[in-house]
Amino acid sequence: MAVAYAIELSRNSRELQSNSRELQSNSRELQSNSPELQSNSPKFANIRKMSDHLARAYPRLAERLPKTHLADLPTPVVEETLRTANGQRKISIKRDDVTGKIYGGNKVRKLEYLLRRARDRNAQRIATFGTVASNHALATSLYAKSLGFECTCLLSNQVRTASVPRVLNMHLENGTELVRWGGDYANRIRTLRTHLWNRQTWVIPAGGSCWLGAVGFVNAGLELAHQITAGELGVPDRLYVANGTMATAAGLALGLALADVPTEVQAVRVTEDFVANPDAMRRLTVKTAMLMNHLDSSIPSDLADRARYRFRDEFLGDGYARTNEATDRAVRVAQDDLGLALETTYTGKAMAALLHDLDQAAHARDSVLFWNTYNSRSLPAGSERPGDVSRLPEEFLRYFD
Ligand SMILES: Cc1ncc(COP(=O)(O)O)c(C=O)c1O
Repeated sequence: MAVAYAIELSRNSRELQSNSRELQSNSRELQSNSPELQSNSPKFANIRKMSDHLARAYPRLAERLPKTHLADLPTPVVEETLRTANGQRKISIKRDDVTGKIYGGNKVRKLEYLLRRARDRNAQRIATFGTVASNHALATSLYAKSLGFECTCLLSNQVRTASVPRVLNMHLENGTELVRWGGDYANRIRTLRTHLWNRQTWVIPAGGSCWLGAVGFVNAGLELAHQITAGELGVPDRLYVANGTMATAAGLALGLALADVPTEVQAVRVTEDFVANPDAMRRLTVKTAMLMNHLDSSIPSDLADRARYRFRDEFLGDGYARTNEATDRAVRVAQDDLGLALETTYTGKAMAALLHDLDQAAHARDSVLFWNTYNSRSLPAGSERPGDVSRLPEEFLRYFD
């Protein structure tokens, strides 16, 4: 079945877009199989259903959407001071860079649900998609291995960034099967057949972004609401987050709406518009809300309409993984003023949006929160060319030149 929808997935040459079809078939499948999801499988001993806010508030939903425990939650919120054109400002930072011990960042929250689902479907192997430096692909591989799965990552080329060689070396150390993803339709079908066929493979879409991945961030929105209630921070007017395949921002907006927190999520686009665009974001938001409501009718049926987010288009610059002056400056300011190590593909752009807005007189007084989605755990692998390149697709060797 995984191969069937992987083939469906490849039908569209724009791979990330085509993943949305997989989401649709996934959701249809969920709707028809929902009684099965009620079973509380003992297969995973380390389920921590009641340790999260979504499960506490919606136990019926948690029964039907079990997750495996990977993340150290809640992640801390800290307050730091920033210099802006309008003087010094306090900002809150949500430290999702430390979501997990072996690898932090935003993917861990999604993988708790996605990998649990794979286990419940008796998968042996996880396959996923991304670019060569994809944090999602690396996080998936690391956590899949920690749970005993094999992992295949189908990776496409991207512009060179400092992180590409290190990420590829991490994959090699982790035993990821690395596959070059690209070419025409026939080539992609061949690739899928060769690597996924008959291997009990569970396919996770690029970025881990499907409604089930977004649920991890609905829980994150409730987690932040709880931290507000506990007095760890005030209600932010605006929350800034990098928007790549959109499940992070969509899930956050839904979680905050569920908790009646009026914060507006600034979903700062960092990918091309065939991947992230307002229509696709709305569809993902509606689908996630609808399926949660379907599984637990105490989730409000108008939740998607209450989700407050703004799709921010102004900070992508020349495209995915390409940096520009505003992004470079944002990374520098984050390092100097906030002690945050950001990068230029995702978090630097979200920080550029935050800095831009705080420099505007109209927003100078807004209280803001920056959601740090970038892993800060150190990676054991270096950037050197690997001694044994036999497991590296030949095309990827150029990232080590
Ligand atoms: C560091 C980082 N931040 C933000 C994002 C965006 O998250 P999402 O794909 O859920 O929009 C990604 C992944 O795409 C990422 O790797």
